[in-house]
Amino acid sequence: MRCRKCRAKASVHMRQHRLALCKEHYLEWIPEQTEKVIKRYSMFYPHQRILVAVSGGKDSLSLWDILTRLGYQAEGLYIDLGIDGSNQYSKRSRASAEDFARQRGLKLHIIDVKREYGHSMVDMAMETPRGRKKVCSLCGLLKRYVMNRFCIENAYDVLATGHNLDDEAATLLGNTLEWSTGYLIRQGPVLPASEGLAKKVKPLFKFYEKQVASYAFLRRISYITEDCPYAEGATSLFYKDVLNRLEEERPALKLSFYLNFLRAKEEGIFSAGEHTWLERLQRCPSCGQPTTSPTRCAFCLLIERAGQARRQHVN
Ligand code: AMP
Ligand code: FES
Ligand code: ZN
Ligand code: ZN
Repeated sequence: MRCRKCRAKASVHMRQHRLALCKEHYLEWIPEQTEKVIKRYSMFYPHQRILVAVSGGKDSLSLWDILTRLGYQAEGLYIDLGIDGSNQYSKRSRASAEDFARQRGLKLHIIDVKREYGHSMVDMAMETPRGRKKVCSLCGLLKRYVMNRFCIENAYDVLATGHNLDDEAATLLGNTLEWSTGYLIRQGPVLPASEGLAKKVKPLFKFYEKQVASYAFLRRISYITEDCPYAEGATSLFYKDVLNRLEEERPALKLSFYLNFLRAKEEGIFSAGEHTWLERLQRCPSCGQPTTSPTRCAFCLLIERAGQARRQHVN
């Protein structure tokens, strides 16, 4: 297979795009495509301050690398969730993020959840009903809360995450199978800012996971390859597997599944509902962050439960 641009031996072959490229042209193509997405969806502009949420994995580190290469002002935020397990997940993913930032002279902010909020993410999860089974979803809630709060309190213009097409298509499949209209309304490459909520963008959403992995490999980015120990058996992994099997039979299916969903949204299938959700948002009486609950936000409830449980253990 030959590179479409220079006819040299191709390093990457993308069946879904019927495109093969050599290393040099692939490393140009990825930032070019990312820039197109940033412009097409008005994600952010050159003078703006971007906060990249970095997990130490290939997607978010590649995103940070691409944005820096494109000349954007992007600082990183790593959330230390205190996940130990046999593979010392948090310690090692934090080291990947720190090494990346140090080697490139980039600014990385770190929030240690236990130090900041008094309980580790896993402890909080264990204190909720059926917590052991729900670690992943509670972790998602906590990460979204911490990212949003940090972004707002430090006046960044936008929060960027490393979600790729495989992540987005799997989430879409789950939301569709359940007809979770609330989530479907908000799913997309851009979530606009609203009172207390930072603007959120996913500049890599059109790239397959494999494409991002090839980019990270060819750029010699070192990242944590293991999954979080709590991800085992997660529904999202099952949906990813199902979509991979479908894609085997029908190349580009994941891309069309997701892009056609975005088109349907643009054509207005959810437009009435979008406003209802935003109108229901109010300030959490306890921490001031946005929530749809009149008493306190889901995060404050989590902290409160963890505190109660700790007092019970002590007594
Ligand atoms: P995940 O929720 O693990 O699929 O990760 C999706 C995106 O969330 C990643 O690409 C990162 O941008 C961000 N992210 C995940 N974990 C962390 C973390 N511990 N700290 C900061 N950002 C994170
Ligand atoms: Fe949050 Fe695995 S990263 S539970
Ligand atoms: Zn080439
Ligand atoms: Zn709150």
